[in-house]
Amino acid sequence: MKTRITEMFGIEHPIIQGGMHYVGFAELAAAVSNAGGLGIITGLTQKTPDLLAEEIARCRTMTDKPFGVNLTFLPTVSRPDYPGYIKAIIDGGVKAVETAGNNPQKWLPMLQEAGVKVIHKCTSVRHALKAQTIGCDAVSVDGFECGGHPGEDDIPNFILLPRAADELNIPFVASGGMADGRSLVAALALGAEGMNMGTRFIATKEAPVHQNVKDAIVAASELDTRLVMRPLRNTERVLRNPAVDRLLEKEAALGKNLRFEDIIEEVAGVYPKIMLEGAMDAGAWSCGMVAGLIHDIPTVKELIDRIMTEAEAIISRLSNIKDR
Ligand SMILES: Cc1cc2nc3c(=O)[nH]c(=O)nc-3n(C[C@H](O)[C@H](O)[C@H](O)COP(=O)(O)O)c2cc1C
Repeated sequence: MKTRITEMFGIEHPIIQGGMHYVGFAELAAAVSNAGGLGIITGLTQKTPDLLAEEIARCRTMTDKPFGVNLTFLPTVSRPDYPGYIKAIIDGGVKAVETAGNNPQKWLPMLQEAGVKVIHKCTSVRHALKAQTIGCDAVSVDGFECGGHPGEDDIPNFILLPRAADELNIPFVASGGMADGRSLVAALALGAEGMNMGTRFIATKEAPVHQNVKDAIVAASELDTRLVMRPLRNTERVLRNPAVDRLLEKEAALGKNLRFEDIIEEVAGVYPKIMLEGAMDAGAWSCGMVAGLIHDIPTVKELIDRIMTEAEAIISRLSNIKDR
């Protein structure tokens, strides 16, 4: 399958693995790239630019295929050394960067002059158009279903993707709620040129997270996510657990008076405990509604091959319907 996305990133299949905090290590990025997709290392999970440089080098020992790095510009407790991270990306010869969160304009010249293609992840048509105007090469359009930060507009992909297709000239991938061959064909039908998956890639053999995380995703249904931090305009879709229930109770009790400090115990520094130690109730962690479509833990290659086979079968079945 060839699209502007496969051509832009030099990949075989139009499937991208979105950056994920404490999940997007070299093992997962390399597995996705080796299977023909675009694997992404999560930049800020590496605490310093030097550690990111080491992670990029480690990924190179596991794959000779293209892979990318995610740079997230969200409110964080400490201000990351973005120029240092960008230098590590460029010096490491990485040619794809997924930006997310705030406007990446300031960093585009540095990246693009070094031949890096930038795909900006955004949750609204207006932000996608802005990304196009400032010169991003592509966008990842993340619907309300998505795990992580869906923004504040709450527009699901059945509306968001065709709206993006109507407005954009640069290519885009569909993100949020994508799991299988049906998702890929639907994404293409709605105007995307590929898909980005987060939650689905966590439940794979190679994802370097605790088995408890994978089992929790398989056990979850589409009813089991919750939105937290909405009063702070930093909404995050997470898997429900006792810490999330506690957090939501605080949000309800404090209303507009909620401050980040009130929920720090449930959200700050919880990712290593959950992802690495498997302490599933340690806090709120991102998970998409797509958990309801995830029933197994295949290898990344099995997953991507299955998606492509299923997508091709659907496309041929649809063309048979037309010919009848
Ligand atoms: C555990 C987890 C952590 C994530 N961390 C990040 C992150 O650090 N930066 C980012 O841009 N997106 C992050 N995301 C969002 C994903 O890259 C992707 O956009 C999203 O998962 C797509 O929705 P899906 O889960 O329905 O596939 C995260 C998602 C999950 C599930």
